[in-house]
Amino acid sequence: CGIVGYVGPRDSQAILLSGLARLEYRGYDSAGIAVIDQGGALDMRKRAGKLKVLRDDLASHPMPDGTTGIGHTRWATHGGPTDANAHPHLADDDRLAVIHNGIIENFAELKADLLSLGYTFRSETDTEVAAVLLGHEYRASGDLVTAFRSVVRRLEGAFTLLAMHQDQPGLVVGARRNSPLVIGLGDGENFLGSDVAAFVEHTRNALAIGQDEIVAITPDGVEITDFDGSAVEASPFEVVWDASAAEKGGWSSFMAKEVSEEPDAVANTIRGRVHDGQVVIPELDGLDEIFTGIRRIIVIACGTAAYAGQTGAYAIEQWTRVPVSVELAHEFRYRDPVLGDDTLVVSISQSGETMDTLMAVKYAHERGAKTLSICNTQGATIPRESDAVIYTHAGPEVAVASTKAFVAQITALYLLALHVARVRGSLPAAEAADHVRELEAVPGKISRVLETEQAHIEQFSRWMADTQSVLFLGRHVGYPIALEGALKLKEISYIHAEGFAAGELKHGPIALIEPGQPVFVIVPSPRESAELHKKVVSNIQEIRARGARVIVVAEEGDAAVLPFADEVLHIPLAGPFFEPLLAVVPLHIFAMGLATAKGLDVDQPRNLAKSVTVE
Ligand code: G6P
Repeated sequence: CGIVGYVGPRDSQAILLSGLARLEYRGYDSAGIAVIDQGGALDMRKRAGKLKVLRDDLASHPMPDGTTGIGHTRWATHGGPTDANAHPHLADDDRLAVIHNGIIENFAELKADLLSLGYTFRSETDTEVAAVLLGHEYRASGDLVTAFRSVVRRLEGAFTLLAMHQDQPGLVVGARRNSPLVIGLGDGENFLGSDVAAFVEHTRNALAIGQDEIVAITPDGVEITDFDGSAVEASPFEVVWDASAAEKGGWSSFMAKEVSEEPDAVANTIRGRVHDGQVVIPELDGLDEIFTGIRRIIVIACGTAAYAGQTGAYAIEQWTRVPVSVELAHEFRYRDPVLGDDTLVVSISQSGETMDTLMAVKYAHERGAKTLSICNTQGATIPRESDAVIYTHAGPEVAVASTKAFVAQITALYLLALHVARVRGSLPAAEAADHVRELEAVPGKISRVLETEQAHIEQFSRWMADTQSVLFLGRHVGYPIALEGALKLKEISYIHAEGFAAGELKHGPIALIEPGQPVFVIVPSPRESAELHKKVVSNIQEIRARGARVIVVAEEGDAAVLPFADEVLHIPLAGPFFEPLLAVVPLHIFAMGLATAKGLDVDQPRNLAKSVTVE
């Protein structure tokens, strides 16, 4: 869910609504705001549906404005997306408003206690339980911070909680446990947000809040304490994102804009990390001993980030000669893996907040492993919980389906591999320099794919708009790209799609092939990977013989596949490890084109949220 809070001299409604718009990627089942108006009363409005429904409602039935407010966009967990279940939730005779992200695990017990005390509830949510409990405590102490502290100490699970009370205007209180919350410092005004996008248009000065901490913001002050009330120091940071970077500009969708930014995402992630043809990542300074001591690397992530991990793993193992395995974070966490201080656990997360990944990182840390995160969002939780971080510099990614962050993540993994290989001396310097050159050439090559292929792929995706099912095949680094191509199609065009290792085809999936079945095949370079290329061409013949409609992603000038392809999407020549960074681009364009042709909202697909902060 997306969370925003404001205290200051300005009317808060517009600030809350624009903050929510920037956070809407976190959930868009319903939205709501509450403000303490000039007359000192608390007003609240919430609606099921996207933020637009709330905006329209406020436009046709305006609500008094005020200078203290909180706002929320929801991704439903407890209770369906209805008006009643939307946030804020009110208590204490509607004088208190609460918003929440996460899951309160002991809500049933707390609710039973409150019911026995005679309290009633208007929704099915765990959040309302926290609100009613806060109202109860407020009656006892008459002070919001005191009441809030005793409530958060009783909550189990994960939460970001924000509250305000009409008897204490000019104050918003927040707390976090395993769920994101950052502070934006303004001049005579202050902000709270799920991430910096919530307030980046007003201030770039931010404070990160630690685990199990409470923050109270007023127009001129920020006070941070732990759950026991002792003061804590917060770490300040400057937001590097440009506010306009999170705007759609003239693009038809954020996704279209973000695909166009794939070359920059790669280039910006490399910048400042190459010196004299060698990769030196400043953030990893002082970690040489760890890198020489490790005997195993485990990459953990979810969704698209996991496919980036799977792609990067080939190069990491090849260049560092350290065995690498890749696992979905939620599977890793619950199987009692063997871990020790010779294991480096590399997590990948665009948001840095995915709960499944966060829990796996904490688990690895507790078990004595070294943890390194690859993350795109400053001030996020996962990098804070890790021993080291490499930021991807893809800029804010707003569309739910990840595109530019994916190529930036692979880039960061290659940089990590080359950095570790240098430290371990596992790769001759000349060879490393070749890889660096290849990597530096990737942005230009992605731009070429966009220039020469985009229009063609969009047209082709329109022809395919009625397709019911699409298969994707790849080998080696092309395999995770096939998986990513299929995921993108599921996520935004709701078409059944599956990716397979091309070699696995004959062991089962080939039974799916019937005349007309579209199959995308990622074809390795005939020059760089002659052996693999031959194998993939044989796989194509096997499916062609059974009537498949073959769409190949192949290197420019690859004449050998032409006779067997119904459609060819070209990518420039690149070394074997760098091809996936190019091959994925046509697949991103295809998924976007097909969803657009079906009239779907490519930025906010049904049932999904960009940042899933529940397990
Ligand atoms: C969600 C999104 C996916 C994303 C995954 C990992 O499931 O819908 O698109 O790939 O989370 O997100 P992260 O922020 O950890 O990279």
